[in-house]
Amino acid sequence: MHHPINLFEYEHLAKEHLSQMALDYYSSGAWDEVTLRDNRAAFERVKLHPRMLVDVSDRYLNTSILGQSLKLPLLIAPMAFQCLAHPDGEVATALAAASAGVGMVLSTLATKTMEEVALPNSLQWFQLYIHKDRGLTRALVERANAVGYKAICLTVDAPVLGRRERDQRNQFTLPPGLHAANLATLNIPHAQGESGLFTYFAQQLNPAITWRDLEWLQSISPLPLVIKGILRGDDAVRAVEYGAKAIVVSNHGGRQLDGAIASLDALAAIVAAVDGRVEVLMDGGIRRGTDILKAIALGAKAVLIGRPVLWGLAVNGKAGVSHIISLLQHELDVAMALTGCPSLEDIDSSLVQLDLKS
Ligand SMILES: Cc1cc2nc3c(=O)[nH]c(=O)nc-3n(C[C@H](O)[C@H](O)[C@H](O)COP(=O)(O)O)c2cc1C
Repeated sequence: MHHPINLFEYEHLAKEHLSQMALDYYSSGAWDEVTLRDNRAAFERVKLHPRMLVDVSDRYLNTSILGQSLKLPLLIAPMAFQCLAHPDGEVATALAAASAGVGMVLSTLATKTMEEVALPNSLQWFQLYIHKDRGLTRALVERANAVGYKAICLTVDAPVLGRRERDQRNQFTLPPGLHAANLATLNIPHAQGESGLFTYFAQQLNPAITWRDLEWLQSISPLPLVIKGILRGDDAVRAVEYGAKAIVVSNHGGRQLDGAIASLDALAAIVAAVDGRVEVLMDGGIRRGTDILKAIALGAKAVLIGRPVLWGLAVNGKAGVSHIISLLQHELDVAMALTGCPSLEDIDSSLVQLDLKS
């Protein structure tokens, strides 16, 4: 295949670079994958109302999140086990993100340690799963703080792991030599007739977590708290009341509750409910610069991308991730020019919901 010129072509090409087990783990969604598909379809449903005859000769794609500047309104979503795609795994992803001036969220289930991945001058957050073992959870948070991660991103949509049937069929587990590097003594089991990750979640993660546990988490961590996996306005309001500094509207890339609303469809109501008190980010299905523009028009401060980063990593390591980011950057830049938006502040809701009376 020729050199990929968009994220879909990377996805296509990545299939040649991944084992079947890794490809299935990366690409699958829960059960019938309705939400996985709908995350994309939601972007295709939204139509743009571009504004003409605006001077767009200079365009500004920079923004800030939790007070930290970014060259693009983009972060890399937390994704487990990136060494399945490339031996440099999360280290390559972090270097590509930092050199492009975008953010990165490191998964609890990374295959490199958070110390190896840390780049204290860039926007890096640590994504947390609360384990039954509180001491282990506390140690993760303390290490993240010690090496310079700027926020704890608590994922709340996974009290149990969603059912990804391809992983179940493959009895997903990590190949020899790879392990969940931040969890030292724990490992992803080989489970008969079952995804090893499903078994891990059932054995180690705490399904009893409630809002009250956010108080505990904040009592052990000076870092700002970001809540990832919110799909309802009332939950978003509670997250704010319990001290969250930002919210990520997400359905975990369609990997948890199949049938859940598409992230983009959930966004506007959450932005309205939060009413400017915290920053709202979103992920799920971002594959084009126009998708970023649509999410911002509906009130997101920034977006996260998931799977495309894994495709970039699989095809060409750090350079592949860098290329994925620059493709999105160029597409967003062109989309802004064509909608009459010299800066991100100009991307308003009228671009997606034109009220002809006004
Ligand atoms: C292979 C893979 C692993 C993931 N691992 C995690 C994880 O460890 N923690 C987490 O909060 N989200 C995880 N996610 C969800 C992503 O953070 C993100 O919500 C989702 O991938 C965004 O959708 P997209 O892939 O369509 O861009 C994972 C997603 C994928 C594809």
